[in-house]
Amino acid sequence: MYSEKVMDHFNNPRNVGEIENASGVGTVGNAKCGDIMRMYLDINDDGIIQDVKFKTFGCGAAVATSSMATELVKGKTVQQALEVTNKAVMEALDGLPPVKVHCSLLAEEAIHAALWDYAQKNHITIEGLEQPVSDIGEKEPEEEY
Ligand code: FES
Repeated sequence: MYSEKVMDHFNNPRNVGEIENASGVGTVGNAKCGDIMRMYLDINDDGIIQDVKFKTFGCGAAVATSSMATELVKGKTVQQALEVTNKAVMEALDGLPPVKVHCSLLAEEAIHAALWDYAQKNHITIEGLEQPVSDIGEKEPEEEY
C-alpha cells in the first residue's frame, strides 16, 4: 500500500524536533482527522532556509510527507519553498494512497503558515503566499478523499 520511500520516511523521519527562536513557526490542523502539524523554519538574512524541523500529532502518512517536505525546503529560498506543494512532496515519495492525500496537505500548509509568520515578524510580503487558515479542513470543504 505504501511506497518504500514513504515507509523509509515514516520509520526514519528527518528533521523531527523544534527550533528555538525560529524565524517562523506555523501550526495547522486537519479537520478530517484532528491531526496537528507544527513547522519551524530558520531563515537567514539572505532569505535561505538554513534549518527546518517539524513536530506532529499525525498519522504515518503525515509524518512521511512532512519529513520529505522538510528535506525539500532545506537550503532553499523562501520563494522556492513556496513551490514545494503537497503534489511535489507526494511525487518525491513515489505517491500516496488516495485516502491519504489529505495528510500531505498538512506539511504544505504548515510550511506556508511558518513562512507567513516569518513574513509578519519581518514586515515583508512574500509574493504568492496567502494568509494560511489555521484549519485546513476549512480550505476545501467540497473535497472528499
Ligand atoms: Fe490525519 Fe493523516 S489521517 S493527517
